[in-house]
Amino acid sequence: MSTQTPQRLLVTGGAGFIGANFVHYWLARHRGGRLVVLDALTYAGNRASLAALEALPEFRFVHGDIRDTDRVERLLREEDIDTIVHFAAESHVDRSIAGPDAFIDTNVLGTHSLLKAARAAWLEDRAAPAHRFHHVSTDEVYGSLGPDDPPFRETTPYAPNSPYAASKAASDHLVRAYHHTYGLATTISNCSNNYGPYQFPEKLIPLCLINLLDGKPLPIYGDGQNVRDWLHVEDHCRGIELILEGGQPGRTYNIGGGAERTNLEVVHALCAIMDERRPAGAPHARRIEFVRDRPGHDRRYAIDETRLRRELGYAPSRTFEDGLQQTVDWYLAHEDWWRPILSGEYRDWVGRHYGTARTASP
Ligand code: NAD
Ligand code: TYD
Repeated sequence: MSTQTPQRLLVTGGAGFIGANFVHYWLARHRGGRLVVLDALTYAGNRASLAALEALPEFRFVHGDIRDTDRVERLLREEDIDTIVHFAAESHVDRSIAGPDAFIDTNVLGTHSLLKAARAAWLEDRAAPAHRFHHVSTDEVYGSLGPDDPPFRETTPYAPNSPYAASKAASDHLVRAYHHTYGLATTISNCSNNYGPYQFPEKLIPLCLINLLDGKPLPIYGDGQNVRDWLHVEDHCRGIELILEGGQPGRTYNIGGGAERTNLEVVHALCAIMDERRPAGAPHARRIEFVRDRPGHDRRYAIDETRLRRELGYAPSRTFEDGLQQTVDWYLAHEDWWRPILSGEYRDWVGRHYGTARTASP
């Protein structure tokens, strides 16, 4: 059975970047139901991202781990959850190269634990309630494209290249299997690179923006010609909302931003905005430094989102240029959100993994 009207949501990883944006997006449009966030608060989780919502009667924050199957099953029953939106993951490719184990633990075993809890709560009683398990995945499962290859479709064979992408691919397969074998009403979305408010400053855009504010170099891996399709996080949330409301169980949907850019183009666009916002530092692009490339660095990702457009009416609502300006302005206005992050675990990790050897010739 499936539900077309999600009422009582469990959002895993809701204190992370996309999860927090989704919780804000959802509660601004759907009142009177229930939304429970389950988050382990790893280095990437930040409860401060949800502070403005804590007083809402619909909202509850649970500090817990998706790998704790019994706890999740109890939570599903206790809160009478009808919809799981599963964001919780280890999400940074560079960290997966430095230490893949956490990616297998959280992304593969964690997703399986969640699937087991959902199956127990929703399918093992006689009258299975209407339900939906939505799994948030990535375009990185499809591998890397050449410059003239057509964009990824939902039918593109999986060819993950990094430990992160492989762990997400494995979790996608488990979700698919739980639909096929047990009849769990699942959907999967594979989206491109997100950007927007509340993104942890280890990812390209917030990292470069904060480095500019702190007068530090902008590290560009390799020759800077790797291409990503940039999706504003609010458009991603809209795509997920459409899938929750009208997506077909067992189906996969790609979500893209229609904005393919090289990394160098992205960083130059960021510098141009900063030249306007902070003219004293212009030209900010002088801070660009080419550094040692990421091992196995995928060259190009691009998304064909025809299925989501045709079947569910999706369209990204903003251009990359508008979205980037809005994102820069958000970070400029919310130093109180990102500054504390820099003094903690993140800075230590960067020191351990990059040290001073980060700068090199392209
Ligand atoms: P993030 O790293 O910012 O946040 C992950 C969240 O999951 C954190 O709040 C963390 O505390 C929580 N978490 C980690 N392990 C957990 C566990 N065992 N139990 C409960 N909570 C746990 O990630 P994000 O960028 O918001 O990505 C969200 C999802 O979207 C991920 O599944 C990721 O693979 C996918 N995705 C992200 C992007 C992107 O550009 N950021 C692109 C495509 C897909
Ligand atoms: P990232 O934000 O880590 O996302 P992903 O690896 O999931 O695509 O990186 C986006 C692109 O930017 C990717 O091609 C790697 C590149 N990159 C840099 O050139 N320098 C950096 O410091 C970082 C973090 C990323």
